[in-house]
Amino acid sequence: MPDDTLAWMNELTADMEERRKRAQRGGGPERVKRQHDAGKLTARERLDALLDDGTFVELGAFVEPNERGLDAPGEGVVTGYGEIDGRRVFVFSQDFTVLGGSLGKMHAAKICRVMDLAARGGFPIVGLNDSAGARIQEGVDALSGYGEVFARNANYSGVVPQVSAVLGPCAGGAVYSPALTDFVLMSRSSGTMFITGPDVVKAVTKQTVSVQELGGADVHARLSGVAHLVEDDDRTVLARVRELLAYLPSSARGQPPRRTTRDPDDRRLPQLATIVHPDPQRAYPMREVIVAVVDDGRFLEIQPEFARNIVVGFAHLGGRAVGIVANDPRQLAGTLTIDASDKAARFVRTCDAFNVPVVTFVDVTGFLPGVAQEHGGIIRHGAKMLYAYAEATVPKLTVIVRKSYGGAYLAMSSRDMGADVVLAWPTAAVAVMGADGAANVLHKREIEKSSDPAATRARFVEDYRREFDHPFKAAGRGYIDDVIDPADTRAHLVRHLAMLEGKREERPFRKHGNVPL
Ligand code: HXC
Repeated sequence: MPDDTLAWMNELTADMEERRKRAQRGGGPERVKRQHDAGKLTARERLDALLDDGTFVELGAFVEPNERGLDAPGEGVVTGYGEIDGRRVFVFSQDFTVLGGSLGKMHAAKICRVMDLAARGGFPIVGLNDSAGARIQEGVDALSGYGEVFARNANYSGVVPQVSAVLGPCAGGAVYSPALTDFVLMSRSSGTMFITGPDVVKAVTKQTVSVQELGGADVHARLSGVAHLVEDDDRTVLARVRELLAYLPSSARGQPPRRTTRDPDDRRLPQLATIVHPDPQRAYPMREVIVAVVDDGRFLEIQPEFARNIVVGFAHLGGRAVGIVANDPRQLAGTLTIDASDKAARFVRTCDAFNVPVVTFVDVTGFLPGVAQEHGGIIRHGAKMLYAYAEATVPKLTVIVRKSYGGAYLAMSSRDMGADVVLAWPTAAVAVMGADGAANVLHKREIEKSSDPAATRARFVEDYRREFDHPFKAAGRGYIDDVIDPADTRAHLVRHLAMLEGKREERPFRKHGNVPL
C-alpha cells in the first residue's frame, strides 16, 4: 500500500478510535462517580456483570442525538448482543450518566434496532433500565421514540422472551416499556418505578409520599404486583436475570433448555405422606411440597410477595423446565382472589407462550367470598384464570393434594379445562363445596326442626364427607386419571411429562382470543 494511503488510513482509524472512546466514556468521571456513590454500576459495568465474559458485541456506538447541541455520548444507551450461559441474548443498557438516561428519538432507535434483530433471529431481549423517561429537550420526538419501543414490546410479546431489570429511578415512559415485557426485576437499593413522582402526586392529590413509598421495589413486589423479582442491588438482580433465562427457550419456536441432574426421576418422597394434616382446618406449607418434588429442590418463585395465596414459579422435573402453580392453604385458606387470579393467569400465559409445561398443585376451597372481591371484579379477574388454562396448549399436569371445590376446581386446571393428566393424593376431595356448607344448604330445614340441631347437622356433615370427601367419586367418573401415593408424586410427574413431550394441540382459526382484562 502506498505511504500516503497508509497515512490516510491510520488517520481515519485514529479518528474512529477517538470517536469510539468518546461514545464509551458516558457522562464523564464526575457523573460516573455519582452513579457509583449511589451504589449503582455504570451501563457498561452492568453488561459485564450480566453477560458471559468477553461475549458483548456493541452495535450503534456512534449514534448521535437528533437535537443539535445535546452532548449525549452513545446517545445514553449501550446496545448490542452477547451470551448468557452460552446462549445469545440481545441487550440494551441505559446510561444514567448521560442526560439521566432520558430517551430521545435516536436513543429509542438504538433500542428498537436490537429488538428487531432479536425478534428476527429468535433471541431474548434483556433491557437494563435506568432512565428519567422522555427526554424533555426533544419534545414530541421523545414521545414518538417511546411509541416505537412500546409497539415492539407488544408486537414481539410471545415471540421472544423480554426481560426488564429496573436499576434506577424509572419514571414516565421508562416504566411502561418494562411493564409491557414478560418479567420485571427490580433492585431494592436503586430501582423505583412510577408514572409521576412524589412532587406531582403532592400537587395533584395533596398526599405526601416518599419515592420509596410511592414506587420502591418492595411496594411493587408486595402491593402492585409490577415487580416479578426483587434483589438487593445491581449484581444480584443481574444474576437473577441469568437464572431466569435458564428456564426459557430463546424464542417461541424453541424448547426450554434441559438441565442435567443427578436427582433420580423416581426419588420417593415419604415425607409428603404426612405433610397434609388430617384436620382440614390445619394448613401446611405447599412450598415444601413443591421443593420436595422438583429436581434438586430448586424452585425459582416468581412474585413471591404478591398475592401469597397462590404460588407460581419455575423448576425442573427430570431435567425438563416446568412452570408450577399451587394454592397456599396458609394464606386466606388458599382461596382464589382478584390478585391471585391475575398472578396465576399471567404466569400460565407466559409458560404457554414459551413452551414451558404447567404443573398445578391444588388445595382450594373456592374463590374468596366478600363484597370487596365482588365489587373489585373477582368475576372478571377469575375469568382470566379459566381462560389462561383453557387456552394453554403446553402439557398440563394437575395434582389434587386436598380440597378442590366449586369454580376453583375448574380454575385450577381440571380435566374439563384441558388438563392432560390429573393425579390425586388419597387426601383429595372434589366437590361443589365443603361438607359444612353443603349440609347447611341441603338440610337447613331438618337441622332447624331437629330437637338437637348440632347433632343432626354433624350427622349430615358426616354423611356428606363419606360421599364426597375423597378422590374416588371424581376418579370413578374419569375426572382423575390416577390416585397415587404422595411419596411417588415426583416419579409420576416425570413420567407423564416425558409422555407429553410431543404434545401438539390445534385451535380453531381466529385473529386472536379476547382474554378478559
Ligand atoms: C432530559 C433529564 C431528564 C429528562 C433528568 N434529566 N430528567 N434530561 N430529560 N426527562 C437530567 C438532569 O437534568 C440531570 O442532568 C441528569 O438527568 C440527572 O438528573 P437528576 O435530577 O440530577 O438525578 P436524580 O436526582 O437522581 O433524579 C432522577 C429523577 C429526576 C427522579 C429521574 O431527574 C426526575 O424526576 N426527572 C424527570 C422525570 C420525568 O418527569 N420524566 C418525563 C416523564 S414523561 P445533569 O446534566 O445535571 O447530569 C414521559 C412521557 C412518556 O416519560 C409517557 C409514555 C406513556
